Amino acid sequence: MARSGRLIAVEGIDGAGKTTLAEGIAAALPDVTVLREPGGAVLSERIRALVKDPALEVDPRAEALLYAAARAQLVSEKLLPLLASGRTVILDRFVDSSLAYQGAGRGLGVEEIAELNRFATAGLTADLTLYLRVDPAVGAARRGGEDRLEQEGEAFFSAVVAAYDALAAKERDRYVVLDGTDPPDVVLATALTVLKRLQ
Ligand SMILES: Nc1ncnc2c1ncn2[C@@H]1O[C@H](COP(=O)(O)OP(=O)(O)OP(=O)(O)O)[C@@H](O)[C@H]1O
Ligand SMILES: [Mg+2]
Repeated sequence: MARSGRLIAVEGIDGAGKTTLAEGIAAALPDVTVLREPGGAVLSERIRALVKDPALEVDPRAEALLYAAARAQLVSEKLLPLLASGRTVILDRFVDSSLAYQGAGRGLGVEEIAELNRFATAGLTADLTLYLRVDPAVGAARRGGEDRLEQEGEAFFSAVVAAYDALAAKERDRYVVLDGTDPPDVVLATALTVLKRLQ
């Protein structure tokens, strides 16, 4: 399927401000479609409920496969048709979330998870990745602060941030790093300036 639309991924740890930014972009640019991961299609939303259910035991490899399955459905059912029709899609998390969380955070290996996701996406990649960078403590505080991160929680999120930073350093053409501690209107204005350049 030919592709003329742009795929913009929004990445960063929990509480970084991804959903806030995606909604801000959608409000400022009406001709975009916002989708989220895991989710965005019926099957993918059901998988989302599974991976988020605290009552379920989910092995790290099973977790990686569930995210990949949700992504595969989203790509074929939604992303490819939207991009073929020329639509700009803002995607609240994409492959790099799996590289950072399952590859680095869970320790499954970034390259192993990249390979799994090349299969899941049939090679679809983002044109641009807006990476909202915050330290783990900022993300933890924004998530509501009802439960302080345990020692291993902090180690996990530090590994995730380090993986995102490494991706940003390696993929300079695709990545734009935004300071997630800037006020939301500043983050949005910076992102809109970047998006304008892309068109
Ligand atoms: N730039 C910002 N400065 C301060 N607070 C912010 C900023 N962006 C978002 N917030 C607030 O932080 C909280 C988390 O934001 P948001 O839900 O957008 O993060 P997220 O990255 O989508 O998190 P998750 O990965 O858990 O979905 C919200 O209460 C939001 O209002
Ligand atoms: Mg969110």
